[in-house]
Amino acid sequence: MGAVATTFIAGVEAVKRGLGVPVGSLTQLGTVRLGKRTDNNTPKIKDFVPLTPLECLTFGAWDIFEDNAYEAAVHAKVLEKSLLDQLKEPLSAIKPMKAVFDQTYIKRIDGPNVKSAPSKMDLAEALMTDIQDFKRANNCDRLVMIWCGSTEVFHRSGPVHQNLETFEEGLRNNDADIAPSQIYAYAALKLGVPYANGAPNLTTDTPALLELARQNGVPVCGKDFKTGQTFMKTLLAPGFKARMLGMSGWFSTNILGNRDGEVLEDPGSFKSKEETKLSVLEQILQPNLYPELYKDLYHAVRINYYPPRGDSKEGWDNIDIFGWLGYPMQIKIDFLCRDSILAAPLVLDLVLFLDLAQRSGMKGIQEWLSFYFKAPMTAPGLYPEHDIFIQLMKLKNTLRWMQGEDLITHLGLEYYD
Ligand SMILES: NC(=O)c1ccc[n+]([C@@H]2O[C@H](COP(=O)([O-])OP(=O)(O)OC[C@H]3O[C@@H](n4cnc5c(N)ncnc54)[C@H](O)[C@@H]3O)[C@@H](O)[C@H]2O)c1
Repeated sequence: MGAVATTFIAGVEAVKRGLGVPVGSLTQLGTVRLGKRTDNNTPKIKDFVPLTPLECLTFGAWDIFEDNAYEAAVHAKVLEKSLLDQLKEPLSAIKPMKAVFDQTYIKRIDGPNVKSAPSKMDLAEALMTDIQDFKRANNCDRLVMIWCGSTEVFHRSGPVHQNLETFEEGLRNNDADIAPSQIYAYAALKLGVPYANGAPNLTTDTPALLELARQNGVPVCGKDFKTGQTFMKTLLAPGFKARMLGMSGWFSTNILGNRDGEVLEDPGSFKSKEETKLSVLEQILQPNLYPELYKDLYHAVRINYYPPRGDSKEGWDNIDIFGWLGYPMQIKIDFLCRDSILAAPLVLDLVLFLDLAQRSGMKGIQEWLSFYFKAPMTAPGLYPEHDIFIQLMKLKNTLRWMQGEDLITHLGLEYYD
């Protein structure tokens, strides 16, 4: 129940009461063209596919801190206190359930609202009880879980993650390689609850949890919301490549002062973030296919914790590109962004789309939701698609496919027959 989660929850409550507009949300404001351009048939996405209306959403959360959602949102300092005061009643009612937490995975913070149990399997079972109690108490038909918790330290899939049997054995034996986020994901998937991962944590990106997702018919997606600097990268880099412009360097630096920034000061958590941030350019620019343009690209990403800025991050980019005959040029970007304001609509869309996916019988990795992530999950051996415009086309074609509409290829020869 940190900055992103409370900005999302407060935002939905504000929209429900007519106090704001859900800017940035494709499910609420986006449209989808059906048929030919001459058909003039472009409904809103929410009128085209049966999405759950905002009025029907209800929220629960876990956190290591005891603050309710109103107090946590005031602490996060993203939304104005005057707005939060108008939402005090619904927000104060959301009290965080006790967390499953382990400081070896998140080093810079610690809090009192934490479960204790003899084994990781006992913790998973306690989470399942929380989920079932929440569902009953709030009279919910369906649930979705989304990780808006801190970034865990970098770790790779190990022997314990190789299949469901070894994973469950590891839960019973307290295997050190099982992270808290994986215990939450296990609990969700066991109960058939779709799971999205907004952080760069390994979490469901393991054979064991994907096996469980497929076995129980549950959709999953991740990792790491694509919001500020990486969002800009996936807008610009496909453009340079489309024009066959070369690139020798891209240096990105960030200053931010929220709790996320504090956690990312730890080298282990930063390493998780760095991996997802760095992978993007290589996969968009494909230096193996275009060695003359990108083989010597130097790409660096830095994040510095700078408390005065709070949630209002500043991301600087210096891009060294080159054109005809190798003549160099430079581009500078200074993005004064608001992290949680950019992330909140993505949380809303992911929750609504994952619920839709489950009702449509889709299970396992949802590649059509790559649009929302810095490091989209894909089937083993498949490289992820990072170009945001291809991702959007894939998302909209998936919606058309779900509803039995013709897919749009943009060939368009028929207009000239
Ligand atoms: N805001 C963005 O633009 C953006 C973009 C991409 C990814 N993310 C990721 O989203 C996550 C949330 O970001 P934020 O700005 O809200 O951070 P935040 O620090 O404000 O919130 C994270 C919350 O998670 C809690 N937490 C940590 N471990 C937990 C556990 N095991 N169980 C329950 N609660 C736990 C913390 O106490 C904290 O309240 C981070 O991992 C961040 O890297 C954010």
